[in-house]
Amino acid sequence: MAEAQVMDKLVSLAKRRGFIFQSSEIYGGLGSVWDYGPLGVELKKNLKERWWRSMVHERSDIEGVDAAILMHPKVWEASGHVEGFTDPLVDCRNCKARFRADQLDQFQCPQKPSKHPGEADQCDLTEPRMFNLMFKTFMGPVEEDAAVVYLRPETAQGIYVNYLNVMQAARQKVPFGIAQVGKAFRNEITPGNFIFRTREFEQMEMQFFVRPGDDERWFDEWKAARMQWHQSLGIRPEKLRFHEHAPDELAHYAKKAFDIEYEFPFGWQEFEGIHNRTDFDLKRHQEYSGKKLEYMDPTTRDRFVPFIIETSLGADRLALVVLVDAYREESVEGEERVVLGLAPSIAPIKAGVFPLVKKDGMPEMARRIHDDLQRRFPVFYDDGGSIGRRYRRQDEAGTPFGVTVDGQSIEDQTVTVRDRDSLAQDRVHADQLAAYLEERITA
Ligand code: GAP
Repeated sequence: MAEAQVMDKLVSLAKRRGFIFQSSEIYGGLGSVWDYGPLGVELKKNLKERWWRSMVHERSDIEGVDAAILMHPKVWEASGHVEGFTDPLVDCRNCKARFRADQLDQFQCPQKPSKHPGEADQCDLTEPRMFNLMFKTFMGPVEEDAAVVYLRPETAQGIYVNYLNVMQAARQKVPFGIAQVGKAFRNEITPGNFIFRTREFEQMEMQFFVRPGDDERWFDEWKAARMQWHQSLGIRPEKLRFHEHAPDELAHYAKKAFDIEYEFPFGWQEFEGIHNRTDFDLKRHQEYSGKKLEYMDPTTRDRFVPFIIETSLGADRLALVVLVDAYREESVEGEERVVLGLAPSIAPIKAGVFPLVKKDGMPEMARRIHDDLQRRFPVFYDDGGSIGRRYRRQDEAGTPFGVTVDGQSIEDQTVTVRDRDSLAQDRVHADQLAAYLEERITA
């Protein structure tokens, strides 16, 4: 399958099966904003829950928060976003398209796709001008400068401004971390590639506060832990790699940074960043708020502003990684099938339940099994069409197991369980079915 086709096929499957729809589609859509449908919302929720479990529930040195999207405007002055969160923008006076001036070589001229913007005779590009990516709005009824607030472009700042509150309330000591999942907004000049770069997205960020001098050890630890976590989702290791930021790539706050990249059909691209942010953020908030943000070590009684190691993952970008990684087309017993080989723990539906035929007590037994399983995890009942077609529909949705009630089931209360990937069929007693599936879903 040509790599270029994979994205088109995935976008089409995502819509057809209810993973992802374009926002406001009936009005022609809103640029680079997407809605998650019934299967998509389950997939993304499973990813966020797994992240939260590994970051917060399974550790005693990380606490969770859920800070507001709107923050005091001074936060964004302190963070450097008002001054520096900008991209250079150029417009073409001829075709009216807009590009990032520093990435012209990555775009095609809309009128001459074999050329980059600026290369064709008709191209008439403006001088680059700096464009701030933050969405601005107004608090209260009056649209005046004094009332300006921003939609947060990263969730991290909501953690920094709460670091003392959380540390004191949860009686934590450095080193410790704070984790958050939430929406972020960026008025990207050149969004695209489906849900890869959008204007509204979700981040899963964790900020780990450490003693200066311990930062490099913690950085290495988090770098390894994050790569290992992605592999635990079943993402193919050969499609993952680190990319270290060269000095000219580093963000203004970072001393060192590594991206975790995935090989998408459109090339290697970042989906998580691990940053050593030093004491930049807390010192800036200390300066702009006038409030001391030092930590006093209870044993040595020395004072310092902690360094921060950040892990920053996009929930939507991760959803794209797992969808791309799971998508495959194959031939089974002479028939073509499309499969999403999602790990059972993140699959939106865990099992399809099917009566082999619509008679002889099979639908009634299948319904009973469905209703029992539904209390434990998401399942789907389907009695429409041939059993082969029903399997195919669930393969496409990424459902890892198919439970079929047949003639033998009525006699001995056993059902067949089909594995989506190996196609192996086990016979399992109905009484043991929930435990059988649960063991495989949580593995
Ligand atoms: N707090 C640090 C920070 O925000 P970033 O590298 O700008 O760092 C971190 O963003 C992650 O957030 C990215 O690796 C990506 O997964 C996600 N992300 C950033 N911009 C995005 C966008 N426009 N659309 C979707 N995801 C985005």
